[in-house]
Amino acid sequence: MAGPDAADPTPGTEASLRLHSLSYSLGITAAITAAARLELADALGDQPASVRVLASAVGADAEALGQLMRALACHGVFEETEEGVYAHTELSRLLRADAPAGRRAMALLAGAPFAWNIWSRLDEAVRTGRSVFPDLYGTTLFAHLHESEPELGRLFDQAMAKSGAVSAVAVADALDLSGTGTVADIGGGRGTLLKALLERRAGLRGVLFDLERVVAGADPALRAGGDLADRCELVAGDWNTGIPVKADTYLLKGVVHMWNDDTAADVLRTLARNAPAGARVVLVEQVLDATRTPEIATVMNLLMLVSQGGRERTSSEFRSLLTRAGLEFRGITGTGGAAHLIEAAVPAAP
Ligand SMILES: C[S@@+](CC[C@H](N)C(=O)[O-])C[C@H]1O[C@@H](n2cnc3c(N)ncnc32)[C@H](O)[C@@H]1O
Repeated sequence: MAGPDAADPTPGTEASLRLHSLSYSLGITAAITAAARLELADALGDQPASVRVLASAVGADAEALGQLMRALACHGVFEETEEGVYAHTELSRLLRADAPAGRRAMALLAGAPFAWNIWSRLDEAVRTGRSVFPDLYGTTLFAHLHESEPELGRLFDQAMAKSGAVSAVAVADALDLSGTGTVADIGGGRGTLLKALLERRAGLRGVLFDLERVVAGADPALRAGGDLADRCELVAGDWNTGIPVKADTYLLKGVVHMWNDDTAADVLRTLARNAPAGARVVLVEQVLDATRTPEIATVMNLLMLVSQGGRERTSSEFRSLLTRAGLEFRGITGTGGAAHLIEAAVPAAP
């Protein structure tokens, strides 16, 4: 067992302590996921509460909950206002079930058993350059979520829709759709971004393309009987077998980073095959050399690798990828947030 030296292995050496702390940062993921599972943020109201009161509200052992609260508060998730009494902070409020941005759902996914399993084999993914998911689960991440862990699948869709609602505003502000009659969102999830775009432009038509189960749960405004249904087509499909969608502008938000370059080039070619000449293809992704938050961008880069064999990319890597897929690279613009618009056009047939 680790003795006291494990807590302070080389006293006085800042670098050593920093590395030690980083090595055990998995404990922070575990603590945040535990807080989300225990629904601690919902149990604590606007007034501070003692650990004892919280423990009885969430059905936990008071002493153990004290250990958890101490670790969380050390990172600004809850705050100890007096001994054994905790209050909300800006961060802990984000873990409430009704908070915007879907951070609770993200926290549950970040520490889900499948996530621990894949992260534990990161070295293997680095050796092979491939996702470890198929070896572990015999299928891809999305097939697994949809077929074997539907609860987590729903959580994923919910996390995407909620976090997407925040970035959709910035993307819709930055995206110039003049000259576009129909916009298609490929892998558009429940249609959060598409809805934001249709709400902004009265004459605009939209197509939402995603897996059948996801499209079936599209935002009610886009489904039959919804306010925007007459301007929106829902297309269920699998981009590996075809993308039968005609539009002037194709959006792929948070999609291309799930793929390695070979897959990305293949799927973009599939998309272009059906698209009219001159159609715009706009990827919405973070850009590694333009990000202001490299700590999370570089971790996402690894998560894409280990979970799906994908990757985040630099500006020049996006340019090469789009060119390799036979598209004409047009440029990259920021949205003010992490997302960038990486734009290309479908060339006229030779
Ligand atoms: C990372 S999510 C992005 C969702 C949305 N664009 C956003 O930014 O919130 C990827 C999306 O791709 C969809 N997807 C995954 N595999 C797919 C496939 N083979 N064909 C079509 N859609 C797929 C997922 O269902 C999911 O909605």
